[in-house]
Amino acid sequence: MKAVVELLEAYRRSRRRVNAREFLRLIVPDPDAHAVTLNQYRFNEAASCTELATLIQQLDGQPPELVRDLAQHLAEEAQHAAWLTELLVELDLSVENPPRLSYLSEFNHLLDPQVKQPHHHEDFVIASLAAINASEKRGCENFAAHIYVLKQQPQTAEVSKICQTIERIWVEEVEHIHWGNRWLAHIAAQSPAHRRQVEVAKLRYGLIEQAAYKATLDLTIGAEWRRVQDLVSIARTMPLWTGIQYFVTRLPRTVLAPDLQITRIYYIRQALQQNPQEFLKLLPTLIWGAS
Ligand SMILES: [Fe+2]
Ligand SMILES: [Fe+2]
Repeated sequence: MKAVVELLEAYRRSRRRVNAREFLRLIVPDPDAHAVTLNQYRFNEAASCTELATLIQQLDGQPPELVRDLAQHLAEEAQHAAWLTELLVELDLSVENPPRLSYLSEFNHLLDPQVKQPHHHEDFVIASLAAINASEKRGCENFAAHIYVLKQQPQTAEVSKICQTIERIWVEEVEHIHWGNRWLAHIAAQSPAHRRQVEVAKLRYGLIEQAAYKATLDLTIGAEWRRVQDLVSIARTMPLWTGIQYFVTRLPRTVLAPDLQITRIYYIRQALQQNPQEFLKLLPTLIWGAS
């Protein structure tokens, strides 16, 4: 719980800028928070297999080379989930769904019709590749930061095992970015119109990814409003009417943010049960982002 309070304060200090190393420096020394993070990785790796399987079905074999690369990608993500589960069991840590806000569900909430209800196959391919590429970059950056922080810790058997597992995963995550970049560059080279389309897709899904990541960290008062601001930025990358429709359909869930409220309540209850003093520290942090 101490790590949560410090995490929220670090987020405020950084003026809501995301610094994976700074956050992991707080998480790694706290055994409970570290176990939750490893479970979060395991959960996301497994959930990404579902997303990739759905994408493969939607592509219906076209183009075959892309479906081949995605099938390989899916196999590797499944392997990552298996390695992380093995690690948790070996270290005698609990294997459970993470209690915090889900990055993937927020990412899915923010995706636009181009990805969710595709009408044009080529647009769908570009949008899907750009969306995958944006989240792979985040995963890679986060794993690199985690490895860096683990190497600064006393090298116990447990720390070494965790580090080895994350390093094995990280190597493959780097390749996931590379194959996505190769596909996007290949499509962009087809014509100036394709290049423009790829650029817009990179911008839009980069914004969507950033907003989803920020949403998993920002629990303080006003988080709902900041989510609405992100929604506006994403909508602005779309043609006017599509952007308005996108904004209006996602606005109610963004304002009500049920996942955010559940997470706040979860931490408040945890803090109350574990240590009322921690609760007194957590409450003002949740309200103002400062203690
Ligand atoms: Fe992975
Ligand atoms: Fe990956």
